[in-house]
Amino acid sequence: MIDLQAALSECAGTVEKTMDLLLGQPDDVEAQLFEAMRYACFAGGKRLRPFLVLQSSRLFKVDTRCAARVAAAIEFIHTYSLIHDDLPAMDNSDLRRGRPSVHKKFDEATAILAGDALQALAFEVLVQPETHSDPNVRIELVRELSRAAGGEGMCGGQMIDLLAEKMTNLDIGAITRLQRLKTGELFAFAAVSGAVLGKGSYRSYMALHNYAQEFGLAFQIADDLLDAEGTEAQTGKPVGRDAETGKATFVSVLGVERARAQAHILVDQAIRALDVFDDSADPLRAAARFVIDRSK
Ligand code: IPE
Ligand code: IPE
Ligand code: MG
Ligand code: MG
Ligand code: MG
Repeated sequence: MIDLQAALSECAGTVEKTMDLLLGQPDDVEAQLFEAMRYACFAGGKRLRPFLVLQSSRLFKVDTRCAARVAAAIEFIHTYSLIHDDLPAMDNSDLRRGRPSVHKKFDEATAILAGDALQALAFEVLVQPETHSDPNVRIELVRELSRAAGGEGMCGGQMIDLLAEKMTNLDIGAITRLQRLKTGELFAFAAVSGAVLGKGSYRSYMALHNYAQEFGLAFQIADDLLDAEGTEAQTGKPVGRDAETGKATFVSVLGVERARAQAHILVDQAIRALDVFDDSADPLRAAARFVIDRSK
């Protein structure tokens, strides 16, 4: 039985140290931008995407220093997506990870720029030779992350998510697609990155990809359940917003009980996708169970 909490906090320590090294801190007129980037990055997130990167990398015996850089890159993208998600033009959310959102602590323009700069930094990190000695691997990482973060991934999903506030006819298939793009694709990048770095077989790449697809959907159902049933104190972000804005989610379509049951089915499927790996994949299996049991 693995101690997932201990493994998660070890991962957080590793990735935060790497993020700190990669984030500049210029003592110049633009210092406020870096202050905002650091404010957003070091606020106690769960670091789940970095955990998937480090654990999938372990399966292929990838050097931890390389994996930690990819973990930092995906966390930079994730953090940028949260900064922009909270902006008044999007979710208009004043609280994130228990503290004022970046646009509240600073201002909207700084929040937009901090997000933009974190996105650019993620790709800069991936192309640096320290990330992998083989340039083809670095190109592959950039290709995968740009696709996962862009119009066919997170940004596309965020667009549908905003439109979903005004669409009453979204069925479960459409919501599944929305969530796969909005949340699933970044998790999928995290999970397959170990196979990319370690030049794993197509079979192991696909196993990790399938794992992450199910994992991401279960994760998003849990996020929607926390929005419906959790408290602000527990989650560190406003709750009840999905219902308030009339947003179509798994919970609005299926109801709380069926959504929870669906999340359990997805976790079982995620774990089954890892059957090609031995017990070295147990931390990934434990992470899948954790995403639906979490309280924040
Ligand atoms: C929240 O992600 C945003 C969604 C994709 C639903 P996390 O729950 O992973 O946020 P942090 O990083 O732990 O704060
Ligand atoms: C945001 O989804 C997902 C991304 C930022 C890509 P949500 O809007 O549901 O996330 P929270 O609940 O604000 O964390
Ligand atoms: Mg949102
Ligand atoms: Mg939001
Ligand atoms: Mg949410």
